[in-house]
Amino acid sequence: MALLEISNLQIDFGATRAVDGVSLAIEEGECLCLVGESGCGKSVTALSIARLLATPPARYAGGEILLQGRPVLRLSQRDLARLRGGVVSYVFQDPATSLNPVMRVGAQIRESLQLHRPAHATDAEILRLLRLVGIPAPESRVRDYPHQLSGGMQQRVMIAMALASEPKLLVADEPTTALDVTIQAQIIELLRELQGRLGMSILLITHNLGLVGDLAHRVAVMYAGQIVETGAADELLRRPRHPYTQALIRSVPEIGRERKRLQAIPGTVPSLGNWPSGCRFAPRCPVARPECPTLQPQLLPLSGDRLVRCPFSEA
Ligand SMILES: Nc1ncnc2c1ncn2[C@@H]1O[C@H](COP(=O)(O)OP(=O)(O)OP(=O)(O)O)[C@@H](O)[C@H]1O
Ligand SMILES: [Mg+2]
Repeated sequence: MALLEISNLQIDFGATRAVDGVSLAIEEGECLCLVGESGCGKSVTALSIARLLATPPARYAGGEILLQGRPVLRLSQRDLARLRGGVVSYVFQDPATSLNPVMRVGAQIRESLQLHRPAHATDAEILRLLRLVGIPAPESRVRDYPHQLSGGMQQRVMIAMALASEPKLLVADEPTTALDVTIQAQIIELLRELQGRLGMSILLITHNLGLVGDLAHRVAVMYAGQIVETGAADELLRRPRHPYTQALIRSVPEIGRERKRLQAIPGTVPSLGNWPSGCRFAPRCPVARPECPTLQPQLLPLSGDRLVRCPFSEA
């Protein structure tokens, strides 16, 4: 049984569907990377895993989420609280949403421990967590306020807080977007190391495919509320099949053998509720055929475990 299994998830905001039939699974010890441009539904999907979306405005309109076999969308508040404490933890992009500016770093980690593992809310455990996330000289850092730390160190503290509950699944939503490039790579390396050491599963969300290579086992690509391609990370990055994935990869100069010029994906992302009626990528697709705007492509198996939402992807 997969640790997380999302099937045909549908999430509405008012009359518009932000997440339209998303299915994903994450095995124990596996890292799945969810990529796609802004507004495609990555965060909404991620937040639904612990049912963290405010309802309203959001509405879970259909589908199922199984976390350790438990039906998240149908759990009581009590069971939900247990799941949030012990099974799934989140790391977000913005320190301002996760760190309290007027509380010392050590006290914030203690609070997280008290909430999730009260028996371990000790100085020794706080130092161990800070060491685990690679914070140098943690004995002196515990008394710092967040603003005394660099962006990368703040991100490490947020990861330490998320690890305080010993989660089975760490959801990292754009954990590096606010950081500069070298620090981004260090945080990804830290996540890779932590995953190896702790054996947890990771859902990494990013719009930068250039970051995922070393960490992700599998990749799922989202466009306009739907998954358009998914498969083993190395295969998918080496040989993307969906025109959107291909365009995303061309927009990342680090990937591929030759260094090509960075190409932005032409056109704009359709806004929520204004999705084209046929293939949603057709208006921006460099290889669209005349019939594409009238097709409703399904996510179908290609080879191996690759699924692609484009009937012409062999071409
Ligand atoms: N509280 C809300 N009320 C109304 N619409 C919302 C709300 N939260 C999200 N949405 C809409 O749902 C869609 C998906 O949003 P989501 O935050 O999941 O995008 P994302 O893929 O995470 O983008 P980004 O890369 O910018 O973080 C967007 O069009 C967004 O405007
Ligand atoms: Mg987001």
